[in-house]
Parts: sequence; C-alpha cells; structure tokens
Amino acid sequence: MDWSILQGRMVQYRRHFHQYPEVSHHEVKTRGFIQKELELLGLKPFSFSGKDVAVEIEGRAPGKMVALRADMDALPINEETGLPFASKNNGTMHACGHDGHMAILLGLVHFFKENQHQFNGSIRFIFQHAEESIPGGAREVVEAGGLKGVDAIFGYHLWQPLPAGTIGVRSGPVMAGADEFNIRIFGKGGHGSMPNETVDPTLIAAMAIMQIHTIVSRSLNPIEPAVISIGELKSGSTYNVIPDQATLSGTVRHFNPHVSKQVHKRLADILAGICLSYGAKYELDYSYGDPPVTNNEKLYAIMKEKAIDLFGESTVVEMDPQLGSEDFSYYTDRIPGMYTFIGVGNKDLPYGHHHPKFDLDENMFVPTVKLLSDAVVHYLNNGEIL
Ligand code: NI
Repeated sequence: MDWSILQGRMVQYRRHFHQYPEVSHHEVKTRGFIQKELELLGLKPFSFSGKDVAVEIEGRAPGKMVALRADMDALPINEETGLPFASKNNGTMHACGHDGHMAILLGLVHFFKENQHQFNGSIRFIFQHAEESIPGGAREVVEAGGLKGVDAIFGYHLWQPLPAGTIGVRSGPVMAGADEFNIRIFGKGGHGSMPNETVDPTLIAAMAIMQIHTIVSRSLNPIEPAVISIGELKSGSTYNVIPDQATLSGTVRHFNPHVSKQVHKRLADILAGICLSYGAKYELDYSYGDPPVTNNEKLYAIMKEKAIDLFGESTVVEMDPQLGSEDFSYYTDRIPGMYTFIGVGNKDLPYGHHHPKFDLDENMFVPTVKLLSDAVVHYLNNGEIL
C-alpha cells in the first residue's frame, strides 16, 4: 500500500465533502459522490434504507462478516474557519468531522480492495445518513437489514478533545443514551390582578422544574450516572396576564435503558401530583431516543492491542464515558461493536465539535486506516496473519 498516495486521496475526499456539506436526511450529493467513487473502484454499491450507501468486499475464503461504519451528515452551522475549502453551502457545515469519517472509510475501501487476499470472510462498509438527528439514521439502516449476516461492527469518531496521535478506547458503555421530553401544563388564564380566578401554569411549571431536579438526586441509584436538563420553558406573553398554558422541554442522558423508564415514570408522577393539587392538567410526551453505545470487551481488547502495536502504549487513552449520544448504539445494541476515538486536536485547532471554527488534523487519516484495518483483519482471521 502506498500510504502517501492514500493520504493524498483521503485529504481530497475530505475537502470535497467539507465544501459541499448536507444536513441530516438530505445527504443526496454526498451519497452520489461516494457511489461514484465506489463504482470507479469496480465495486457495486447499494443501499439499505435508500438514504445510506453500502458496499461489500469479499476476502479470499468464506468466514465472518465485519461492518465498518461512517456517518455522512453535516450541521446547520455557518462556517467561520476561513479555510480555502470552507463550506460553499451557506448555513451548513461539517463541524463534527463526519467529512473526515467518510474520507477514512473510502480510504479503508481502497485498502481492502487492494488487500483482498489478506483476510477471510467479508467486510461491509456502511456510509450512514443522519447521525445527528434523533432518532438517528442508524435505526433505518438496521430496520432495513443493515446488520443481517454481520458478526461485529466497528465505528470511530475523530475527536478534537484528544490530541492528534492519541487513540481513545473504552470497554462497556462509552456514549450516553439520550431521550427527549415535552410537557404541556394546562391551567386557566386570567387577569394578573385576580390570581384567585385562575390556575397559574407558570407557577406550576416552576414547581415542576424544582421537583424534576430531585429525580437524579433522590429517585435514581446514586451509582448510576444520569443527567436531566430542562432547556426550554415557555409561558405567557405579557406582564399582567396569567396565561392558560406553559410548555417545558428537556433531555435525559444515561448509560442504562432502565434509567430512561424510571425517569419517564417519575416525570409522570411529579406532574400528576402537582397538577392535582392546583387543579391543572398536563400532557407528557416522552421520546425514548438513541440507546447508549456499549463497546464489546473482546473487540475493545483487539483495538487496544493494535493501537499499542502501531503507535505505542503512551498513545492509548482510556476514555471516560461521554454524555453525548451517538446512534452507533443501534448497532451495538444488537451485535458486538467497538467505537473508537481518534485524537485530532492540537494547539492550532482549539475549537470543539459543533463550533463554527471547528477543524481537524488530517494527518490522522492514515493512522486511522492502519488501526482499523489491523483490528478488522485480526478479528476476521482469528489473529492469524495470512
Ligand atoms: Ni459527530
């Protein structure tokens, strides 16, 4: 493998994707570009959900199947990097690094196409849409049979908080599950001077917020991490009118689906209790979102071993669980999976993911291809070198 040619290619891919970002569920040109590149390699791309692009490469003998997944979507952010290859689609930006994820996955396709005789079994490459939406595109890929026949799946994120040259791994839960809730409180509106004639939904909402914040501290198991944040409260429109409705919305993060159910139940209990005592009514809409991403212990061990072999012990970072969510969980919920963090930060790249000045260190593309290909080949060949 000529690594410098591959690096050049991946940088070109990444900069192309970066210039033409598309948001979740609208990755039309992105998909078209990938499809064309795969066809140029003599491969036959297909799609599970109609929104993703997939392709398979067979090794030299039948065996297990591994899936490799990259996400394709950008964010509704106005880019401020000033880079020569900055976004040409106003208001849309690859501010999470998914442009790099696609470039690397195309790099892996090139690698395995050239090294088909070095592994048994087969590899399925999934370019997945809509990772940033809730629920994510992974659910559609899984429902359309994306994991059929797959024994293990690998995913990765270029990760700005880690310095370039380091690899972040973890066994067990690694990214949180994320739910969303919406609450409507129905009171009785009236004049601000005659509160006795009203049922004030603003006051009830305020009490509900205080009590909701006791769920983590008083209802959940203290050794089970969870976050509840209320990000939105709307009530009334002027100073002397008591409105008839208030709305609240928030997010729940957890590493155990059981926590979701418990929070949902406590929210309902709290709202029922407060509304009963003041004569109000409520509606609670709780959406169970992406489950937590859980890394398989054996795949974690393979990945860690390969990272140490390639880059040395000091480059491997044991990650803390991240409270962000990632729809890779729809895969790890069903089959063994491993989600790895690739350090792409440095002192010249201080802006985090989803920032309008976000950028990443492209020098990590080849090391990522080496790491993932070594791990995949090790898994498919049961550790034997063919
Ligand atoms: Ni991302």
